[in-house]
Amino acid sequence: MENSSNQVLFSALQPSGKLTIGNYVGVLSKFNEMQKYFSCVYCIADHHAITVKHNPDELKKNILDMLAIFLACGVDTNKSIIFVQSHVPQHFQLCWILNCYTHFNELVKMTQFKEKSKINKENINSGLLNYPVLMASDILLYNSNFVLVGPDQKQHIELSRKIAKRFNKVYGNIFTVPNRLLLNSGKQIFSLQNPRKKMSKSDQNPKNVIFLLENIKSSLEKLKLACTDSEIPPKIYYDLNKKPGISNLINLLSCITGKSISYIENNFHSETYKNFKSFVSDIVSDFLRNIQNKFFHFRKNEDFLKNILLNGSNKAKEISKITLEKVMISIGSII
Ligand code: TRP
Repeated sequence: MENSSNQVLFSALQPSGKLTIGNYVGVLSKFNEMQKYFSCVYCIADHHAITVKHNPDELKKNILDMLAIFLACGVDTNKSIIFVQSHVPQHFQLCWILNCYTHFNELVKMTQFKEKSKINKENINSGLLNYPVLMASDILLYNSNFVLVGPDQKQHIELSRKIAKRFNKVYGNIFTVPNRLLLNSGKQIFSLQNPRKKMSKSDQNPKNVIFLLENIKSSLEKLKLACTDSEIPPKIYYDLNKKPGISNLINLLSCITGKSISYIENNFHSETYKNFKSFVSDIVSDFLRNIQNKFFHFRKNEDFLKNILLNGSNKAKEISKITLEKVMISIGSII
C-alpha cells in the first residue's frame, strides 16, 4: 500500500439498505482524513448483509452505491484499498478457523445478536450468530492496528480483540490486536423524532432518518418535524440528558461543519428553535447536494467502479493470503 504510515486502519460497512447521515457522521466522514495518517483498508461487507433476508438485485446495486459513496467521501484508490468482502475468500477461510476459537456463549450474549433475533424471529440463522467472527476475520487478516466503527459496534471489536489474544496465546504472535479508533469522542446521531434512540437505516419510521441519497426536499421536511423540547425561554445548548433533540441537531451541525459544540452554542445561544432549525436545514441541504453530486458522478460509470473493485480485491488478497498462510501453518494445516 502506498502510504507513509505503516499503521493500518480498517473499516467496513454493510451494503444493506441506504446509508444515513448517521453513518456519515460516525464513519464515512472520517474516511478521507484517515488516509493522511494510516494505510487504510475499506471493505464493503456484503456477506454480513446476507445474514438477514435479502434481494440479490438490491445487493448488487447496494454494493456499487456504497462504492460510489466511499469515493464521494474522498477515498483515494491510489492511497487506500477498497474491496468487496466476498471477493476475497480468505475472509471465510479465516472465519471458520476463528469460529473454533470463539465460544458459543460469547456469541449468544452479543447485544446485536439478541436484537436481530428479536426482529427476525423466523430466521435466526447461524450466520447471524457468527457475524462477529466474520468481523474479526475481516479485521485480523489485514494486521489492522485500528478499526473505525460507530459506537454500536464497540462490543464486536472487543470480541475481535479477545479472539486475537486467545489465538496468539496458543500460537505466538500471529495477529495484531486491533484497537477501536475513538473519534468525535464517540458522538452519534440519534433518531430525529426519538432522539434517545440511534438513527438507524432500518427504523420503521422513515421520518426519523435522513438518508445520504434522499431527495433534499424530503430531508428538509424531516428536519422541520425533528423533536426539540419545551424549555421556556427556548435555549440552544448541548445537554444530551435534558435536551436530546436540540443536542442531536447541534451534533449534526458540528459534525458536518467541523465546528465545535461550544462554537455552535455561543453562536446560537439565544436564537429561536425555528431559526436554529432553519440554519441546520441550510447546512444539511448544502451537504447532501454536494455529496449527491459527487456520488452521481462516480455511480454512472459502472465499468470504472467494477475495475476499482477488481484492483481492490487483488490488493486485499495479497495481504490476506500472507496472514492466512501464517495461521494455517500455526494450526498444522500446511504440511
Ligand atoms: N458490522 C459492521 C456494521 O454493521 C460492518 C463490518 C463488517 C465491520 N465487518 C467489519 C466493521 C469489520 C468493522 C470491522 O457496521
